Amino acid sequence: MPSITVEPCTFALFGALGDLALRKLFPALYQLDGAGLLHEDTRIIALAREPGSEQEHLAFIASELRRYVGAELDEAVAERFLARLSYLHVDFLKADDYVALAEMAGSAQRVIAYFATPAAVYGAICENLSKVGLAENTRVVLEKPIGSDLESSRKVNDAVAQFFPENRTYRIDHYLGKETVQNLIALRFANSLFETQWNQNYISHVEITVAEKVGIEGRWGYFDKAGQLRDMIQNHLLQLLCLIAMDPPADLSADSIRDEKVKVLKALAPISPEGLTTQVVRGQYIAGYSEGKPVPGYLEEPNSNTQSDTETFVALRADIRNWRWAGVPFYLRTGKRMPQKLSQIVIHFKEPSHYIFAPEQRLQISNKLIIRLQPDEGISLRVMTKEQGLDKGMQLRSGPLQLNFSDTWRSARIPDAYERLLLEVMRGNQNLFVRKDEIEAAWKWCDQLIAGWKKSGDAPKPYAAGSWGPMSSIALITRDGRSWYGDI
Ligand code: BG6
Repeated sequence: MPSITVEPCTFALFGALGDLALRKLFPALYQLDGAGLLHEDTRIIALAREPGSEQEHLAFIASELRRYVGAELDEAVAERFLARLSYLHVDFLKADDYVALAEMAGSAQRVIAYFATPAAVYGAICENLSKVGLAENTRVVLEKPIGSDLESSRKVNDAVAQFFPENRTYRIDHYLGKETVQNLIALRFANSLFETQWNQNYISHVEITVAEKVGIEGRWGYFDKAGQLRDMIQNHLLQLLCLIAMDPPADLSADSIRDEKVKVLKALAPISPEGLTTQVVRGQYIAGYSEGKPVPGYLEEPNSNTQSDTETFVALRADIRNWRWAGVPFYLRTGKRMPQKLSQIVIHFKEPSHYIFAPEQRLQISNKLIIRLQPDEGISLRVMTKEQGLDKGMQLRSGPLQLNFSDTWRSARIPDAYERLLLEVMRGNQNLFVRKDEIEAAWKWCDQLIAGWKKSGDAPKPYAAGSWGPMSSIALITRDGRSWYGDI
């Protein structure tokens, strides 16, 4: 039996027939049920605008659940889980449609309203929940993207804040729910070994790569308005950067952690107009190969606008203006249609201060801490050792001290990020959710890049699908005398 207890709730899922709900949220709730982490009185109400009968929609949700959970689905758990579900047709903008929701929620002590809908309707949903008396005990969960710049994100946040206080507002960045991302906190703050080295005296630079093999996957309509900077850097990569760069929080409370993250975001150096050409690379994939098969370019994807100059790749150098990180570049890189799915952070430590080995070996001397977020989750510390053998002299080589999570904890399945996040919402713990000022500080930094790109009018650089991005992303780092780790 689980060692944590979860209170009962009515879980109202807006946008219940959308891709996110079907692919991630229902399977995550099912897994929580299987793990004994849904209270027996918890009910789930699926809300959507689509016409059709309740029976038909519930049958569809059930078949999609089976599809996405796959072979590991346990029929007994699935039956118990599906029995918790009901379906309600609502027009999100019509207050009258919420009366039935209020009746169904009845005397529930806790309602969780999850918005898997476009952010443009968050304000209206909040207002309507309040009109039917559902604002008091409700926690609201907001999916990204919240706005497309600082101004629009403020509007959304302000609209929500009229009805729900910050301590009942949960903004999702699903990367924060990944086990390996939470592990960054443990790695950094439960091991004194690293903290003493974690600054500009010992670290030369940091790389954060989040590469995806997939292309746009039928999401052209959304993605083309966003682009890789808004879709990935503004949230996931900046969150990773914060967790690596933040100072130790006073405790594990949500606000202590978030206070430290905000300080990092505020310390990010703005990128000058010249920096836009030397420090930032935008790319867009053209036709190429993925796993040996030909794949179309971004502009040839179904429903594409052939004139689009939306970026599907960004690489950049970010600098943090504070005592800990002065002079330590953070190289961020993310793209669609890369050769492999890989999320990885590499911390490059400086060379020893006095070098005593053969000059030709000098280049390989530097410890690296490689944190693999996905796949093959684990941590590896590259250390220098001597090659064995009488004939080897003091020949050096770099080898790993390795911790592979799935080999080490063989029995444990790695939960999906949404399982953790939904559980934490039910427990009322906000430390894996993004506070309003964090989102705003991240937008502020990204807005200057977007404005700079707009002003320059430069088109993104092409790169072949299946490659590691435009050549200029390699130049970006080699210009500083470095290279992307393991490239690859
Ligand atoms: C989402 C982005 O937030 O993250 C997607 O909108 C991206 O474009 C996805 O594919 C990547 O998430 P993960 O967990 O597969 O790395």
